[in-house]
This record gives sequence, structure tokens and C-alpha cells, in this order.
Amino acid sequence: MQKEIHMAGPWVTEFEEKIVLDALRNGWYGKDAYTYVEKFETEFSAYHGRKFGLMTPNCTTAIHLLLAGLNIKDGDEVIVPECTWIASAAPITYQRAITVFADIDPVNWCIDPKALEAKITKKTKAVIVVDLYGNMPDMDVLQEICDRHGIYLIEDAAESLGSKFNGIRAGKFGVGSVFSFHRTKTITTGEGGMLLLDDEKLYQRCKFLRDHGRAPGTYFNTEVTFKYMPSNLAASLGYAQFLRIDELVNKKRWIWQEFKNHFKDVPDVSFNPEPENVFNGVWCTAMVFGKSYGITKDYVMQELTKADLPSRPFFYPLTLLPAFGANVETGRKSSPVAYDISERGINLPCAFTVDSDQIEIMSNAIKKILNSCGKNA
Ligand SMILES: Cc1ncc(COP(=O)(O)O)c(C=O)c1O
Repeated sequence: MQKEIHMAGPWVTEFEEKIVLDALRNGWYGKDAYTYVEKFETEFSAYHGRKFGLMTPNCTTAIHLLLAGLNIKDGDEVIVPECTWIASAAPITYQRAITVFADIDPVNWCIDPKALEAKITKKTKAVIVVDLYGNMPDMDVLQEICDRHGIYLIEDAAESLGSKFNGIRAGKFGVGSVFSFHRTKTITTGEGGMLLLDDEKLYQRCKFLRDHGRAPGTYFNTEVTFKYMPSNLAASLGYAQFLRIDELVNKKRWIWQEFKNHFKDVPDVSFNPEPENVFNGVWCTAMVFGKSYGITKDYVMQELTKADLPSRPFFYPLTLLPAFGANVETGRKSSPVAYDISERGINLPCAFTVDSDQIEIMSNAIKKILNSCGKNA
């Protein structure tokens, strides 16, 4: 019988078991209570060419911590790309700031620099650039726009562990960057995240905000803040996974490459791009069907479900969601590319358990669906 094809899930080995067991047995007292948090923060930030790292309970809280650390508040505007997971934007609302959506680029699916610039006002304080599916936008152009307008660039690298733009690792762009170690991500701690920074004052502020507004080791709180502290046990798993980063990123790229090979002779379909100046860590292989097929993601997913095969929708435009008012008409007008691409895209299985037989089964099923739509797949 064919093994179940999983959409997402980690690759955990005996190596991780050993390190987690060490944390479980020894990581509770005195200076040992946070050793894995410290190792993980120090080595993960150095790997990304950053001075400081702060592990958090997840990536959403890392974004929140950074927005709070930058003093983004009531009435400030923060721009996000229209197509992303809600976590990129939700912390803006936590801070009672205003979320402004900008359209995405049709090729890399990340924020479109022109759309970004058009949305900047006097109230704009920051833009959260998202490296969607591991894809990289032109960071030089985006940074130049931010510098010219005096706004912060925040890099949401939740999906781009292992990616590079012009040889620079995802996570090194802007005033701060964030990563996710959710169960579905390239390296996992079950739930977990990391904030990377270069500015010492901002780091100290975010560190203070992370632990109830107190000086370390004291019970003397000078502000009411958050409790976004990491666990040493989770950090031990993250640290062990991090030591295997090349192996993990290679497997993600292998899945992507295998899918692309199956579709190399199929016209008018596209996958996560990798232009010459980009190395794509491909957290998840996504596929966009060209307009010539006249199909929607819902149709393809429905047909795959009938064949007992998994898939997920490409991220929805956020303005389409009830959470952001479901302003479809204005959203579509403002972000036509996001609405168009999202309607025609699906996520393919990207669990570390996915093998070549499963990729072949998925690919054949998709080709059959495309064939039935009149194109020669
Ligand atoms: C682009 C993006 N940003 C932020 C997050 C939030 O990550 P977490 O689930 O760790 O809070 C995710 C994770 O799903 C994501 O894909």
C-alpha cells in the first residue's frame, strides 16, 4: 500500500534525540537552564551575519516583539504584502497600528516595490517584506525605497531559511528579521521563532519586552510588557536541527527540483522561481497554473481530493479574508496580481517524508487534471 503523502512535517533523527535528551536530563538548574537557548540564539544569528538573536515562542510573537521594540503604535501605518500568512500582519493589529496592503510581484510573489512605494504616506513607519515560499524579492530596491522614505524594513523570513539574495542570507535584511520553527517549517521546535537584530539598543529593548519588563534575574518590573520567553527544551531541538541545516535545505530543494522535472515539458505552469542572483531554500514548493488552463486552485484541489491526494491553497489575499473585512472589490482593485496569482496557485506536499514515488503520483494526477482542461500536459 502507498504510504500517506503528508503536506508538511519535520525530519527528526537520533542526532536530535540525543541533544534533546541532554536538555531534558541536564537543562534545568542554574547556568544550565538556558544553555541551549543561548547556543541557538548565538549560532543562529552569527550564521545569518546578525549580531543578536532572541528566541520566541513562535514567529508571530517575534514580529510583535519587534514592532513593539520599534515603538510602532496607535495610528502608525505598516505595509505588508497582500499575499502572505496572516501572521505577517496580525501583530500590526496587536499594536493597534493600521495595516496597509500592497500588491505582489507576478514572478517572485513577494511585495512589488512599485506597489509598496505607492502605499507610503506620512504615517508609514515600516514595511514587513515577506520572503514567500522561500522566494526572494529585490532587497536592494526595497531597502533603497525604505531609506528614501525613512521607514523601517522588517524581513519576515519565516519561510526562507536557507535562501539567499545576491549571496546574502535571508534574515540579514532590514532592521530586524524573523524566523518560524513551527512543525511545518524547515527546522522545527514544534512551535518556536527567532528575532534577529544588529542594533544593540533595539536588542536590549526587545529582550526587556520579552520578559515582563524586568531586568534579568529581578522581580522588579518597570513596565507591563509580554511574556515571550523561549523554552530550553524547544531550543535544544532547534539547535540540533540547525546543525543539520544544509541537509534539511537540500531535501527541500530536492522536492522542488523533482516536481519541476516532472513538469519540464508542460507549458504554462510555474514554480518557486530562482533567478540568477537568488538561492531558494524552497520551504514549500508552490505551483501556479497559467491562465491558458482556465482553472482555479479550488478546482484543482477538489480534483486532487477526489483522487485522495493532498494539497493546500496558495495564500489568500489578506483583504479577501473576513479577518481583514473581506473587502474583495477594493482589494482586487488595489492588488490585482495577488488576487490573480492566488486564485491559480496551490501548495504541493513538502513534508520531509515525501519521496520520489509520491512526487510522481502527485505530478501524474495534476497532469491528468490539466489534460482534462484542454492543454497538452
Ligand atoms: C510568512 C510567515 N510569517 C509568519 C509566520 C508565523 O510563524 P509562527 O507560526 O511560528 O508564528 C508564518 C508561519 O506560518 C509564515 O509563513
